Amino acid sequence: MTVHFIGAGPGAPDLLTLRARDLIATCPVCLYAGSLIPEAVLAHCPAGARIVNTAPLDLDQIIAEIASAHAQGLDVARLHSGDLSVWSAMGEQLRRLRALGVPYTVTPGVPAFAAAAAALGAELTLPGLAQSVVLTRTPGRASPMPAGESLAAFAATGATLALHLSIHRLSEIAAELAPILGADCPAAVVWRASWPDQRVVTGTLGDIADRVGEGMERTATILIGRALAAEGFADSRLYAADYDRRFRPARAGEGG
Ligand SMILES: C[S@@+](CC[C@H](N)C(=O)[O-])C[C@H]1O[C@@H](n2cnc3c(N)ncnc32)[C@H](O)[C@@H]1O
Repeated sequence: MTVHFIGAGPGAPDLLTLRARDLIATCPVCLYAGSLIPEAVLAHCPAGARIVNTAPLDLDQIIAEIASAHAQGLDVARLHSGDLSVWSAMGEQLRRLRALGVPYTVTPGVPAFAAAAAALGAELTLPGLAQSVVLTRTPGRASPMPAGESLAAFAATGATLALHLSIHRLSEIAAELAPILGADCPAAVVWRASWPDQRVVTGTLGDIADRVGEGMERTATILIGRALAAEGFADSRLYAADYDRRFRPARAGEGG
């Protein structure tokens, strides 16, 4: 018996990986994390599977579901939205499973920030403008930020910022970052990226809060940075004609 932790992607059912689909189809038990997992993903469960929404459960109750499946020798598909490496609560579940001696695997998924960038048609790392992406959030009721992980400090690096779990603080965020990055710094909000009702709002730190207004709650990613609306960036060296790389040696006499 194995518990398969599976990143179910940002929402569009066809952004599930093939491995995820196949694992879901083999597991007689499926535990899924609430409304961000679409019905079409759950439709891959085999007929008669026990399918449990864990949103109303606490950690002990989730582990009890897994322990019960373990006792019966039933594999479990454990679905979380996006990828499992960020804000999935997988870490605390794995710690319990290790203590219980329950085997598990981890299958990555498409993260929300990548779906948001795709909706914008944006590369978040452009030569000379940003070569790093900071995946972060603002503090929540149950989740204070560790000392040192301040938004201002991240912004000061010039990296592209991808803010999660923070749409309700958009005005505060824009007001805090405008003096650091400039009121003209591009900003965008993608709500329910990849879902049929996806919405995209673009602007600057100076106007993004007004442009978004009141209509977007919860499932939105905020992207901020100079790379978002840039046209005047340099080409990367990767495809430069005079760039010598393993599979495409520079032509003789055309530079190094
Ligand atoms: C608990 S975190 C889960 C993140 C997820 N593990 C991932 O890899 O993206 C939930 C936050 O992710 C972002 N998010 C998740 N799905 C999204 C989507 N389809 N569109 C935009 N943002 C999304 C929102 O900021 C939301 O508040």
